[in-house]
Amino acid sequence: MARHRVTLIPGDGIGPEVTRAVLHVLEAAGAEIDWDWQQAGSAALETHGTPLPDSLLESIRRNRVALKGPVSTPVSTGFRSVNVTLRQTFDLYANVRPSRTLPGVLTRFPEVDIVLFRENTEGLYAGIESYDENLELAEAVARISRRGSERIIRFAFEYARQHGRRKITLAHKANILKKTSGLFLEVGRQIAREYPDIAFEDKIIDNLCMQLVMRPETFDCIVTTNLFGDILSDLCAGLVGGLGLVPGANIGDEVAIFEAVHGSAPDIAGQNRANPTALLLSATMMLEHLGERELACRIQNALHDVLREGRIRTPDLGGTASTMQFAEAIAERLTK
Ligand code: NAI
Repeated sequence: MARHRVTLIPGDGIGPEVTRAVLHVLEAAGAEIDWDWQQAGSAALETHGTPLPDSLLESIRRNRVALKGPVSTPVSTGFRSVNVTLRQTFDLYANVRPSRTLPGVLTRFPEVDIVLFRENTEGLYAGIESYDENLELAEAVARISRRGSERIIRFAFEYARQHGRRKITLAHKANILKKTSGLFLEVGRQIAREYPDIAFEDKIIDNLCMQLVMRPETFDCIVTTNLFGDILSDLCAGLVGGLGLVPGANIGDEVAIFEAVHGSAPDIAGQNRANPTALLLSATMMLEHLGERELACRIQNALHDVLREGRIRTPDLGGTASTMQFAEAIAERLTK
């Protein structure tokens, strides 16, 4: 394996705990990575006076690949989301979130294998909000462009083709949001014609949510706008056993940042009980991106073995193992 240099952002809350666990597994697997440690969010605010220091941005620009733990965002007031700002700064337009049934993890649905593609830079996350004191009226603008829609939808079709997937479902609300969601749907229908080998359907978001919890096995790839994608990805995580299990990648033309779907989980932070699987699988997506497919596969197999055996599990999966004990069990498999 070639040596790689990767920016590492442990984040806050459970971030540093799951990051430590993932580094332990990667080391046991023999991953040759030089980590460039960087702070973000409230920790960076204390030491650098800003939640997003220049040194962090420069590191990502230089290395072009980052592994990131969750970073908390203050609710209603305080600094703007570091996560959203990073995605916009580096134009990471494709948020890829695969939710797959894992061996040994019992859920209501035995056969889920859904890859969600969330547009990551536009929509209601464009950050255009205002409040009129006189009218006591708050407004948010959803911005959807033809170019932004084209590139995420094309990304989803290309991914489907390369990964042997059969169907793309486009989620929208074009019956009500005729211009914004309407544009996204129109572009989706146009692009679908270029990919006759991949089935295409569209569904109104509320109906899709209902169908997902009734028959998730009938869905393959889903492509949608920013806010719908954010909500749908937590829903899909719930189908396969929870947020502790689902990885993600934020991909642009120049840079890619890999992070779990979950947040900083303040309710369990500092207790060494978070499940590191989501960040570990994000790290395996990163290894594949770096061309280290075999190593990624070895790590996934070791993870699957430990989950299948079921003796060592974190509390979210009904066990009593700590974050680090779970990581140690995977590392042991890798060094056997
Ligand atoms: P959350 O994802 O942090 O937690 C939701 C629930 O899932 C909690 O009950 C938590 O204990 C559980 N959970 C999450 N990850 C887990 C894991 N690895 N193992 C076991 N259980 C896990 O969502 P919440 O509470 O809405 O957000 C907390 C903070 O995280 C907020 O400040 C939010 O802005 C931030 N956030 C950051 C993200 C990022 O950095 N990409 C993504 C989502 C939220």
